[in-house]
Amino acid sequence: MVGDDLVFAVNGERFEVLSVNPSTTLLEFLRSNTRFKSVKLSCGEGGCGACIVILSKYDPVLDQVEEYSINSCLTLLCSINGCSITTSDGLGNTEKGFHPIHKRFAGFHASQCGFCTPGMCISLYSALSKAHNSKNSQSSPDYLTALEAEKSIAGNLCRCTGYRPIADACKSFAADVDIEDLGFNSFWRKGESREEMFKKLPPYNPDKDLVTFPDFLKEKIKCQQNVLDQTRYHWSTPVSVAELQEILATTNPGKDRGLIKLVVGNTGTGYYKEEKQYGRYIDISHIPEMSMIKKDDRGIEIGAVVTISKVIDALMEENTSAYVFKKIGVHMEKVANHFIRNSGSIGGNLVMAQSKSFPSDITTLLLAADASVYMINAGRHEKLRMGEYLVSPPILDTKTVLLKVHIPSWIASSTTGLLFETYRAALRPIGSALPYINAAFLAVVSQDASSRGIIVDKCRLAFGSFGGYHSIRAREVEDFLTGKILSHSVLYEAVRLLKGIIVPSIDTSYPEYKKSLAVGFLFDFLYPLIESGSWDSKRKHIDGHVDPTVCLPLLSSAQQVFESKEYHPVGEAIIKFGAEMQASGEAVYVDDIPSLPHCLHGAFIYSTKPLAWIKSVGFGGNVTPIGVLAVITFKDIPQVGQNIGYISMFGTGLLFADEVTISAGQIIALVVADTQKHADMAANLAVVEYDSRYIGTPVLSVEDAVKRSSLFEVPPEYYPEPVGDISKGMAEADRKIRSVELRLGSQYFFYMETQTALALPDEDNCLVVYSSTQSPEYTQSVIATCLGIPAHNVRVITRRIGGGFGGKAIKSMPVATACALAAKKMQHPVRIYVNRKTDMVMAGGRHPMKITYSVGFRSDGKLTALALNMLIDAGCDVDVSLVMPQNIMNSLRKYEWGALSFDIKVCKTNLPSRTSLRAPGEVQGSYIAESIIENVASSLNMDVDVVRRINLHTYESLSKFYKQVAGEPDEYTLPLLWDKLEISADFRRRVESVKEFNRCNIWRKRGISRVPIIHQVVHRPTPGKVSILNDGSVAVEVAGIEVGQGLWTKVQQMVAYGLGMIKCDGSEDLLERTRLLQTDTLSMAQSSYTAGSTTSENCCEAVRLCCGILVERLKPTMNQILENARSVTWDMLIQQAYAQSVDLSARTFYKPESSSAEYLNYGVGASEVEVDLVTGRTEIIRSDIIYDCGKSLNPAVDLGQIEGAFVQGIGFFMYEEYTTNENGLVKEEGTWDYKIPTIDTIPKQFNVQILNSGHHKNRILSSKASGEPPLLVAASVHCATRSAIREARKQYLSWNCDNGDRTDVSDIGFELPVPAIMPVVKQLCGLESVEKYLEWKTYP
Ligand SMILES: Cc1cc2nc3c(=O)[nH]c(=O)nc-3n(C[C@H](O)[C@H](O)[C@H](O)COP(=O)(O)OP(=O)(O)OC[C@H]3O[C@@H](n4cnc5c(N)ncnc54)[C@H](O)[C@@H]3O)c2cc1C
Ligand code: FES
Ligand code: FES
Repeated sequence: MVGDDLVFAVNGERFEVLSVNPSTTLLEFLRSNTRFKSVKLSCGEGGCGACIVILSKYDPVLDQVEEYSINSCLTLLCSINGCSITTSDGLGNTEKGFHPIHKRFAGFHASQCGFCTPGMCISLYSALSKAHNSKNSQSSPDYLTALEAEKSIAGNLCRCTGYRPIADACKSFAADVDIEDLGFNSFWRKGESREEMFKKLPPYNPDKDLVTFPDFLKEKIKCQQNVLDQTRYHWSTPVSVAELQEILATTNPGKDRGLIKLVVGNTGTGYYKEEKQYGRYIDISHIPEMSMIKKDDRGIEIGAVVTISKVIDALMEENTSAYVFKKIGVHMEKVANHFIRNSGSIGGNLVMAQSKSFPSDITTLLLAADASVYMINAGRHEKLRMGEYLVSPPILDTKTVLLKVHIPSWIASSTTGLLFETYRAALRPIGSALPYINAAFLAVVSQDASSRGIIVDKCRLAFGSFGGYHSIRAREVEDFLTGKILSHSVLYEAVRLLKGIIVPSIDTSYPEYKKSLAVGFLFDFLYPLIESGSWDSKRKHIDGHVDPTVCLPLLSSAQQVFESKEYHPVGEAIIKFGAEMQASGEAVYVDDIPSLPHCLHGAFIYSTKPLAWIKSVGFGGNVTPIGVLAVITFKDIPQVGQNIGYISMFGTGLLFADEVTISAGQIIALVVADTQKHADMAANLAVVEYDSRYIGTPVLSVEDAVKRSSLFEVPPEYYPEPVGDISKGMAEADRKIRSVELRLGSQYFFYMETQTALALPDEDNCLVVYSSTQSPEYTQSVIATCLGIPAHNVRVITRRIGGGFGGKAIKSMPVATACALAAKKMQHPVRIYVNRKTDMVMAGGRHPMKITYSVGFRSDGKLTALALNMLIDAGCDVDVSLVMPQNIMNSLRKYEWGALSFDIKVCKTNLPSRTSLRAPGEVQGSYIAESIIENVASSLNMDVDVVRRINLHTYESLSKFYKQVAGEPDEYTLPLLWDKLEISADFRRRVESVKEFNRCNIWRKRGISRVPIIHQVVHRPTPGKVSILNDGSVAVEVAGIEVGQGLWTKVQQMVAYGLGMIKCDGSEDLLERTRLLQTDTLSMAQSSYTAGSTTSENCCEAVRLCCGILVERLKPTMNQILENARSVTWDMLIQQAYAQSVDLSARTFYKPESSSAEYLNYGVGASEVEVDLVTGRTEIIRSDIIYDCGKSLNPAVDLGQIEGAFVQGIGFFMYEEYTTNENGLVKEEGTWDYKIPTIDTIPKQFNVQILNSGHHKNRILSSKASGEPPLLVAASVHCATRSAIREARKQYLSWNCDNGDRTDVSDIGFELPVPAIMPVVKQLCGLESVEKYLEWKTYP
């Protein structure tokens, strides 16, 4: 059939693409062929939401437009033919005005680095548009509920904000929200009436603010079929099953249908990362027979290409047999995230599950509901029941097409009960995480007349995603239960049988946990029937522990911040500089800088061996992959240069492995190709030949490092000092705990923007390098040294970065250097945008460590001595690892240990080189202290909160442990914060109610914990430059990088304050007239790096000094004008100063006094959690934080830092596993297996208070740091979890049957590993708790 051109609209503009590789994604097209850069690439696998757009489709028959969000990183360009795409910059922008969503995100301080923000805005927009359209179609109320608003961003990741402000911005659009419940914002101030508050919100008018479908596209659709020219696009769009069969008949049989690929949403490539090139794609989504949904008395029939979202809508509709359907629909709302559900089809899911063992939820649900599938192959129709379908040969290897699914109706008779439940245990409760296991159970039950018990007449028990080949039915258990009267012993037998059936394959992680979940789910399904002796379709679960139908409660929060006018506008909650632009997506990050023609792209080849000779680097079959132009190794470094990839205060490291690789993940080479996709594909295909002979065995553990004396030497000035006499301290102890071992693992940054750089060769051997770095000056040095050129030949420019968290302090340098080297060699612009997997492999992350300690204490809980041995795994390279001993000790000293001694070794291993990650060392030190205190309290059987309080420092002991850094007595606010939090968090009363809760509940336990923190920071020398231009506007350069921490905003405020000291008319507008410029190493020498939480303060002080100079220079002019005028305006003053040739540009170099450069930060946090003993899931019910910010320079910014750091800490303590295999290669590859917190895993109630602690004479306008310290407070969540587990263990032991071989919870003192993920928590609560409970009930 003759087809059309590929035509679509982006933000109302027409795009016509005359030919394109059919594997091109919408994201690739938008980012490289349009000016709309708000779609960001972060994961490339459908798991983060940075790339999402609104897709609008026009139906000419109904004259209706349908719109929903989709991801653009998996959607194929050809599949959007005839559609209209809207991006965040299409909703609104600087030119046409921002959309109310952008304005509210800015005003609620919901954007920090801004990389996630456009995607967040699209998610919210999509929810608003859905609410609006549902009104039009079904006359339901035209509003978004607060719950919908909150859930709208459930699939979007943000690593900076901690989600609370984003949730508030979203809820501000909800009609049922109590506006007073919304968090801190810049629209209104506390105390204003509700009406006033509403009035001040940027108004939203759905009729005006929703996008419209372009007319030109409507016309095209009306007169043409939506079919592309097959020969040009290699893309077929059959419009009937017969046509599809015809196309398939002409293709060669064989594996994978030869080079043909059927496609619907293409979301499957998010999991399988298909890199195969297909000759033709067949888009089956336009076939009406496969897109229908039909309902009748017998059930519901759903076409295979129907999207999961539409399946959910259909299942949730009211209907007599809706009970089973609704439960399936509710479960399906947790499949993936909203944008994957909007484009992924039910058929795609079933095919992936059947042919590729994808761990599907949907097959489990359909198996339990006895669904059938209909298929066609070469005209032959086949119907299979789900169980048969799953075990038949993989249909992807044949020409079989899945046509539709049929789910039968299930209706109970008048004498029987119909029960249907579904289960899912995943790290995130409302989706965006594959489950550890899922289950769906259907049972028909009746009452046994004689015993009054419940008989199981029939049941179907399905389990999936547990590491088997596909979802299965537990038939033996079904047979066993059928006809039985339910009792404790029957259930006990059933779960024992079940354990033999759930057999995860050998390579499955947490197999025993998965078995225990299966048991727990079955127990939850049947046990209430035994207890109550009746059935009820709205029945209760055991203690209500896992009820997927229950909506999550809304988040609630309170923030108390203190704004001060003393240094106006410093101290005020000014909106972040450029926040609206970040929301619209116009803010430019490195990868948004338009490519010059012939720009090349690089991708890294990294080592997979810990220690080996590198014999060769090449490609399979010696065939150079398509698009590859060069493979750059150490041999390409100029003779005058050096093989250097980074520089830190402790030394330098290699750019490329030379003849030998010293760790998995080490860079071996850079592939340079014509596109990023080709470079990435080639790097994947690279074959590195290693030789491990004659090189020795790698050091793969800290113990081995010590044995082999493989240590980095810590310079004496970086080695902390012990306190007191340890022997004396130990002698004073009544009790001792000796040689306890603790281990802490790593954490990955998960900045939303991965490492990236762009290098442009310039005249005379110069280079301009745009780098997403926290250390431009060091980057410049490394590039110059590597290339053997003077530093002044290298201009490194950084405007903003999409999150850094320490990961772009050192680890960004090799990326920029390799990019510069490639640009120099190829004499072409080169850019590198490291893909997520490679970034995770190369990044290093937090330092793992092993700690052994002995602690002495008195019977009243007073500590007398602590002796520690620590082995820190620095990996293969020194990086900044030598700061670790000091950082660890600085925060660990928060308690009065009596005497403190330690031996800390920084081990050199053949593992990935570790680096700084937000609060490096400090978070571990603070946690180690808590862990010790927990053990002390446990061994004394004392309330741990009391032990903490007893051992908090007095000012005297603080001075002993921190010496001069302790500051003045009135600056030591920790005891004050401790007491304040007790009241504000209602701590005492809640401790009692937690006890009561634990008494009354068997399958849920709560814990509450309060934790103090001390965090030491240091000011660093920092330059700054302020220039007043001839129109009175102000240009400011600082050394610090805007990483999302609000540095620019604070500096802008400081400039307005500093120049405002001239006190002329119009100086109050200085805030708006001040612009911060990108950091440029040739303009701002000695820019050093951005790290350690004080860069904002340092930069503020540098510009304050500049402003002081300028004010002094302006004063004579001002006085002259005032001689003849009664007042003077800023513009007049500047004009006059220009006329008088006053130098209006000032540069300073702020050098802090060494005696007061270091200071302490204090905070206290309390968290309450609830642990589900069946699944091991921990829910954070509430967290309260009080943090001493001194006089905050900008309370909105500091609040954001506190919340964001705390949530990142939750990630470290509770969720984020970052592990390596036996060779030291990082195992986690992206969003599928690395789970940072999401909106559904943050505290349900989150209260933050910023203490305004008044005057601090050595601080910059009395301010203090906020970037890193609050991360430490997240230990309160971990400690609360430990406390809940302790209760669970006590209960387990109280089920007093013979312990047998179940020794898993035999003692009350235990270590809770970090991160305390669900399997870990469940194991500590007892993997066999259900069996044990049933045993106890059966044989009391
Ligand atoms: C980030 C993410 C999270 C996810 N989370 C979950 C989850 O929690 N639980 C869960 O169950 N699933 C999950 N999924 C899987 C998701 O449901 C599937 O990716 C989606 O349903 C596939 O549909 P699609 O239309 O995009 O298929 P496509 O990607 O277009 O196709 C998938 C495969 O099936 C073939 N195919 C498609 N339709 C047919 C047909 N009718 N006949 C024959 N072959 C066909 C294609 O050729 C291809 O090989 C997740 C996916 C992503 C990307
Ligand atoms: S980049 Fe597309 S979802 Fe992450
Ligand atoms: S603001 Fe969300 S990732 Fe940075």
